Amino acid sequence: MSSNPLAPAWLVEPADANALPDHVWSQNSSRNDTGELTIAGVTASSIAEQFGTPVYVVDEADVRSRATATRESFDREFAAVGSSAKVYYAGKAFLSIEVAHWIMDAGLNIDVCSGGELAVALAAGANPASLGFHGNNKSLSEIDRAVSTGVGAIVIDSVVEIERVADAASRHGRTQPVRLRINSGVHASTHEYLATAREDQKFGIPLADAADVVALIRAQPSLRFLGLHSHIGSQIFEVDGFAEAARRLLTLHAELLTGGEVPELNLGGGFGIAYTSIDDALPVTEIASRLATIISTECERLDIPVPIVAVEPGRTIIGPSTTTLYTVGTIKDVLVEGTAVRKYVSVDGGMSDNVRPALYAANYSARIADRSSSAEPALVRVAGKHCESGDIVVHAEYLPSDVRPGDLLGVPATGAYGWAMASNYNYVGRAPVVAVIDGAARLIVRGENEDDLLARDLGVRAVSGEDK
Ligand code: LLP
Repeated sequence: MSSNPLAPAWLVEPADANALPDHVWSQNSSRNDTGELTIAGVTASSIAEQFGTPVYVVDEADVRSRATATRESFDREFAAVGSSAKVYYAGKAFLSIEVAHWIMDAGLNIDVCSGGELAVALAAGANPASLGFHGNNKSLSEIDRAVSTGVGAIVIDSVVEIERVADAASRHGRTQPVRLRINSGVHASTHEYLATAREDQKFGIPLADAADVVALIRAQPSLRFLGLHSHIGSQIFEVDGFAEAARRLLTLHAELLTGGEVPELNLGGGFGIAYTSIDDALPVTEIASRLATIISTECERLDIPVPIVAVEPGRTIIGPSTTTLYTVGTIKDVLVEGTAVRKYVSVDGGMSDNVRPALYAANYSARIADRSSSAEPALVRVAGKHCESGDIVVHAEYLPSDVRPGDLLGVPATGAYGWAMASNYNYVGRAPVVAVIDGAARLIVRGENEDDLLARDLGVRAVSGEDK
């Protein structure tokens, strides 16, 4: 094999550029007899034909089973140490009414962080008491709505919010359960923008101030203090950071127990998933059992009961379930520095359907989806159709060198923060979301068309004369 000097050191040239590594592709992805990608028994070409491209294809059974496995693992491991667990699905990763139903069917709670996410969860029929509400700058109306609808836990993120939530609770004659978000100071090893517990960032209360802030919460008769909350960041592969945060929080938790009840400890989300074949993510059973061991050992040392432990994973539940299908439009062999060729494969989406490569330099992988090929692998960069050079879908991948216009390309593991952070950049309509299960595909969120793109532009009314 001739290696391309433009290939990053981490990228392994695959023996078979058609292979779908199990740990990257959704559980029900495989190639059929003709070599085509099928997801839950539905071929890539039939999805593209019916719904167009780009399209997000969610393997429904995969989401359901990851959600169930997460809840069961945490239930089992914390029951074994004499306590219990509460698993919240972090809706920010991807929330639609259908997905909320799958999550609730699996017995999970839902965590929201804006009035909009709250509205979707409520529209899906979520029991408000099973919801958590986050955010470093919740508006007064968001707080009011969360309190008046009976949201089960509001996470207080700053001192000024204590009075805001307490006032809303008194106005509505309720006692509002709250958690307090702590900045534990743990440095998680992830992209700078994904680390949320370093000192110099906007979330939470420093550990050193927390006892005073809890006293302020406890002084409000309309609030009930549930416990401390920490979220150290996202896309983290090591358990060490969570363990360190748990230890730091439990020391404070033990101190707080001397002044009143502290039934819970919330460790947030942030567990990593595999985007490329070199990523090695821990199975949820392992995460749950290691956290339970660390927490119970620490509680024993502190001589306190093991609290109810809450977690809020988003990415690990929805991320691996989804594959984005694109159509290849143009291909260019670009000579770089006069020495090596990078093949630019441009597809019909890009940073409007997945901004993560541009925003975090996130790596993804790709495969030709509607056929297999025995051509030699070639190093490619998959680019989008947007007007900027940072519009990259996959920074570096090996695809069969005969990749050509009209091919369908599948990019796996796009379920978390792809659709959720989609935009209309360049007036490109947001792509539809299709669920596949048992050989059938159905639209769960329709794509945007030109009418949608123009719908909020009031100039349209003037042009059509409606304003005269
Ligand atoms: N809980 C809290 C308080 C959070 O802030 C987050 C994510 C989660 C739970 C869920 O984290 P997960 O398990 O999904 O990693 N847009 C970025 C991720 C930002 C995550 C923000 N908070 C990305 O595309 O990687």
